[in-house]
Amino acid sequence: APAYENIKIDVVGSKKNVGLIQLNRPKALNALCKPLFVELGKAVTDFDSDNSISAIIITGNEKAFAAGADIKEMQNNTYSDNVRAGFLREWEDISNCGKPIIAAVNGFALGGGCELAMLCDIIYAGEKAKFGQPEINIGTIPGAGGTQRLPRYVGKSKAMEIVLTGNFIDAYEAEKMGLVSRVFPVEKLLEETIKLAERIGTHSPLIVKLAKQAVNQAYETQLKAGLQFEKSIFYGTFATADRREGMTAFVEKRSPNFKNE
Ligand code: CAA
Repeated sequence: APAYENIKIDVVGSKKNVGLIQLNRPKALNALCKPLFVELGKAVTDFDSDNSISAIIITGNEKAFAAGADIKEMQNNTYSDNVRAGFLREWEDISNCGKPIIAAVNGFALGGGCELAMLCDIIYAGEKAKFGQPEINIGTIPGAGGTQRLPRYVGKSKAMEIVLTGNFIDAYEAEKMGLVSRVFPVEKLLEETIKLAERIGTHSPLIVKLAKQAVNQAYETQLKAGLQFEKSIFYGTFATADRREGMTAFVEKRSPNFKNE
């Protein structure tokens, strides 16, 4: 198996047909830096093309699934940098996977962490999970699908509330609004998620793949235009002083002083 620095991979389940990916930057609450995403993309692609694997699980640790895109990495980005690099472009690779991907979320799933969970096909949560799109606190907006996927899960009013306040929601609220399909005790989450993956694995891999495509047709139609729109606005926040102040204040551990500029 390839040596990874920012993730750990394993093959689990009684038939060894479930690919498990654990995000592994615990000191940064699994902030989703580019090297992590490059590894994640490779691990997902490898499991997708491995005939012995029926479904894939992405998880974090008890404190954090992922606390967002890496603020320290993007703190000094300019609008031009983002456009040139296609910043966060590799995130969408996850949605090209033909096999089911299940997010098992304990702890924080914030910003890009919530967006990564929503890039998966099913979200299971531990009782202490916390979801949110707190980008507004640091002077930007969700940039990896949050403004487009969240309303599809929870409807406009809830999505607006989450995106405009930056407030966190707990696992049971997330279940009630349809973001999460089930909630389990923290220590049971992974085993229940593996059971789900194994259940899916009892079916024809071909039909599972087609069924996933069909559900996604309902879910993703008109999403592309929305995602392009979102990315241009997200990049645009990097042309503002308030975005710079918001991220600088986070890194300096102080409250931001926004100037409406
Ligand atoms: N990026 C980079 N580093 C992060 C991070 C992030 N998103 N989230 C946490 N960290 C780092 C902290 O800087 C800290 O590092 P140091 O020890 O080097 O100081 C470490 O992880 C532990 O974090 P805290 O000390 O802040 O832990 P806490 O328990 O006090 O707070 C928290 C936890 C409420 C989740 C807090 O860390 C937090 O608010 N994080 C940022 C959440 C956020 O704004 N996410 C959105 C990011 S923007 C985005 O994702 C854009 C997009 O849509 C693509």
